[in-house]
Amino acid sequence: MRLICSIVCPLFTGKPIKWYNRLDSTNRFAAVHIKNGQATPGIVYAAKNQYEGRGQRDNVWEAEPGQNLTFSVVYEPDFLAATGQFYLNMVVCLAITRFLKQELGIPAKVKWPNDIYVEYDKIAGVLIENSLRGQNISHSIIGIGLNVNQVVFSDGLNATSVKLITGQENELEPLLEKFVEYLEPEYLLLKAGRFTDLYERYIENLLFYNTERLYSANGSLFKGTIQGINPDGKLVVASPNGTKEFGFKEIEFMI
Ligand code: BTN
Repeated sequence: MRLICSIVCPLFTGKPIKWYNRLDSTNRFAAVHIKNGQATPGIVYAAKNQYEGRGQRDNVWEAEPGQNLTFSVVYEPDFLAATGQFYLNMVVCLAITRFLKQELGIPAKVKWPNDIYVEYDKIAGVLIENSLRGQNISHSIIGIGLNVNQVVFSDGLNATSVKLITGQENELEPLLEKFVEYLEPEYLLLKAGRFTDLYERYIENLLFYNTERLYSANGSLFKGTIQGINPDGKLVVASPNGTKEFGFKEIEFMI
């Protein structure tokens, strides 16, 4: 698919990539540009120093200035129903894991719903913010933080980086240019309606899939085995008490 695309469909993702020295949050910045009608589909806003990065569950995303990739991609997936928004998570996670494996030799996995892990440490986080028009998604802001050259993280974070794993420093700008080449083909698969392909590869890359592990839900610990993801993006976990589906904030992995 990459070969065909490189001949017939030039990239629109990362055209342009706009770099800024200092931004509070690239997702917030992208939202303002969308509101003002200034964000073309595929545009990327990247910050060298993102000083108020936003994470999932209202967390902050810490990134040492100049050391990591912190950026947001704007897409207009108006072909996608809001009910299918989890497929955007799949697209992004598959792009990051393939990029890390193929470009940097890093065996990354997806911790549901959209954290990227190497063994038991997080190397990248994703915050996708969608706006709707009717039943469909009009704009998607795909915010990605990828730890690249940072080697010291706050206590208790269980974080890692490309440098900690490979021992190599990487220049940020060429790395981001390369990453968008991985993101776009996955996005085009979604646009082409290749849901099964995306789902199967997401599952293949899922951390702890089909493996008994310890989880916490409703204040109690239990042993469970991930069976898959339901159409709403909920995690399906089998345990001695039966098979249950969990939303984002309803289950915690005991890593
Ligand atoms: C997470 O909590 O794992 C999600 C982290 C997402 C961080 C990225 S960095 C670029 C973009 N801008 C933000 O403010 N957050 C996302």
